Amino acid sequence: MLRKPILLFMLIVSASSAFSQAVLPAQQKKMDAFINNLMSKMTLDEKIGQLNQVSVGFDVTGPIVSKNVNENIEKGNVGSVLNTYTPDAVRKLQQIAVEHTRLKIPLLFGYDVIHGHKTIFPIPLGLASSWDLDMIKQTATIAAQEASADGINWVFSPMVDIARDPRWGRIAEGSGEDTWLGSQIAKVMVQGYQGNTYLNNDKVMACVKHFALYGAVEAGRDYNTVDMSEHRMFQDYLPPYKAAIDAGAGSVMSSFNEINGVPATGNKWLMTDLLRKKWGFTGLVVTDYTAINEMINHGMGETTYDVAKVALDAGIDMDMVGEVYLDNLKKLVKDGKVQQSQIDVACRRVLEAKYKLGLFADPYRYCNDERAQKTIMKPEFLEAATEAAKRSIVLLKNSNNTLPLKATGSIALVGPLADDHRDMIGPWSGAGDWQKSVTVLEGIKKLAGNQVQINYAKGANITNDDWMIKRLGADQLNNDKRPANEMIDEAVNAAKKSDVIVAVVGESFGMSGEAASRSEIGIPSAQEDLLKALKATGKPMVIILMNGRPLTLKWENDNADAMLETWFAGTEAGSAIADVLFGEYNPSAKITATFPQDVGQIPLYYSHKNTGRPYQGDFTDRYKSRYLDISNDPLYPFGFGLSYTTFTYSDVKLNNNTIKPGQLLQVSTTVTNTGKYDGTEIVQLYTRQMVGSVTRPVEELKKFKKIFLKAGESQVVNFTISSADLRFYDINMKYTYEPGDFKVFVGTNSRDVKEADFKLTN
Ligand code: NOJ
Repeated sequence: MLRKPILLFMLIVSASSAFSQAVLPAQQKKMDAFINNLMSKMTLDEKIGQLNQVSVGFDVTGPIVSKNVNENIEKGNVGSVLNTYTPDAVRKLQQIAVEHTRLKIPLLFGYDVIHGHKTIFPIPLGLASSWDLDMIKQTATIAAQEASADGINWVFSPMVDIARDPRWGRIAEGSGEDTWLGSQIAKVMVQGYQGNTYLNNDKVMACVKHFALYGAVEAGRDYNTVDMSEHRMFQDYLPPYKAAIDAGAGSVMSSFNEINGVPATGNKWLMTDLLRKKWGFTGLVVTDYTAINEMINHGMGETTYDVAKVALDAGIDMDMVGEVYLDNLKKLVKDGKVQQSQIDVACRRVLEAKYKLGLFADPYRYCNDERAQKTIMKPEFLEAATEAAKRSIVLLKNSNNTLPLKATGSIALVGPLADDHRDMIGPWSGAGDWQKSVTVLEGIKKLAGNQVQINYAKGANITNDDWMIKRLGADQLNNDKRPANEMIDEAVNAAKKSDVIVAVVGESFGMSGEAASRSEIGIPSAQEDLLKALKATGKPMVIILMNGRPLTLKWENDNADAMLETWFAGTEAGSAIADVLFGEYNPSAKITATFPQDVGQIPLYYSHKNTGRPYQGDFTDRYKSRYLDISNDPLYPFGFGLSYTTFTYSDVKLNNNTIKPGQLLQVSTTVTNTGKYDGTEIVQLYTRQMVGSVTRPVEELKKFKKIFLKAGESQVVNFTISSADLRFYDINMKYTYEPGDFKVFVGTNSRDVKEADFKLTN
């Protein structure tokens, strides 16, 4: 009796061939035998074909689209397809591969599932603001369930680029500026997408991107150059990629940028010495979209023939859309410029990914219409999307307890984003079904429509700037043709007859994300004009922001009574925002990227160095590291976010003021909810090493705890720190700790902290 389930389990394993990403020796042996046998039958052309990824289908995510896709699949020239989903569309292409090619090798289907597939969660920068690792993992799990039900087996996520320049639109796609938090998030996202095993077909292969350092492009301009010291690279920018790889990510995407003179896609040090040899990565490396071709523009070669060699030599396995490998590798082998063994290695990695995903055993295991119908956007997923959105909304200001609103009287709901379905789901929402998104108007109506009089007016277009309209495309903005003053007047009239103004303003979805760098990062002027006119009515004004980056919000901060940063909150944006507005949910999120006062302060981040002339607030002291025209302070510091209640922190207590390596320092603080509402607080712990063999940041996030306190309740929050938490790259690039003096800070954000001193001895 006992044996039966085991037998059944073994049958499933051998039938599907799908296995855990941590390959057991027996599985590895079986896979090796299978792939050796297959590769022994493959021609050089067929091997090269496996290294080619084409883009076709429902989405265009780069400058060119592949041609003659069906014919190329049939010829064995394609290893993977990007931008095709739905069981039907995937099945049709898969069928060509497995029924009409000589060796019947199935295709990998990759897609940009970045913050959900059909059910869209808040943009990653929003999700990060929740500091809720379990919830973030759950969003990736759901995304995997939906994507895999929709034919996809490979997602181009997580995007783990550390970003400290909000001019860069892609800051929306990552977790913000902090290395440690970014690494925790990278890890749970990989776990969510991949699980422990591909045994059930509801998991997908993750792709860590963009390797590497893409978030540090100069001037925040997309696709620009990166030049960075080895220290900063290892200390601040590389750890999240490493964390994702250590969590078992099956693939890595090369970034567009150069790194200290060599594009990532042709960078052997990066792709082979670091990634493979040092970090032990054994999975598949794909380029970003036409990144090999672009090495001609970078000046790494004159022809695709030249740059194909550069990429293969660097260790790139698969060519996304560029067809550079397809066109050149055979000749390169013939000319003796590359070895066939290099192609074998790359081909094997592609085949291994397919094998692990179980595609050889069943190429259609991700193509089941019934499953798609049952899975996609099911009520539990929408509930999870509402929850994720609520937990990602940051309360930036709340004078005189303007929020939560009472569900009585009247509200002027104004602004171009108040009733706009498309923008709710934000950038990189690929297959997201924006028509099903809930707008703020709909959310408020549903929650309080019976008790509250809603006076709605659009009030302004997102932007009236011709230059911007041309770049984004008029369709995307869906601009109202009425003159600006007529729209503003309508909104002002709505305000005058209401008790409170709720203005929903910000960016359109296309103003952040890829290819969406901005040099000014404020609210576009058409909307600023609206806000100023509303302010002049003297009515209390709540600003709801929707945007994909930290914005400069000085006027808004000075003039709004309350302000909520809602990011692009996803399919259920409006439901979540309504819950927060009316106090059904008490906001708890905290920003993970510093909001500057002015664009001229960028890059501005909390973990900066002290410098030799630190500015400490005395403006008359001229020879300090400061500006003449503005303070060094951010508008909102990293980790900042308010609640409808208030929390106070006791002094920080240590169980000792000296620790030795291996010992634990206990750090505790008592947090009290001193307000009227129950609430969740994210208690943050930072350290500072006072003296080092290299200069150390003024603060580094090391731990946090998310705690729930009822009104009036207190809790002792305990943390432990050991020498392991204090490691860094020393003067010899050794990852180690150094004995000496430290400070530990505990608080509600990176600025408002209490501190204590301790020593690490030998
Ligand atoms: C370009 C983007 O940089 C990358 O993030 C994305 O995955 C690919 N295009 C595929 O769409």
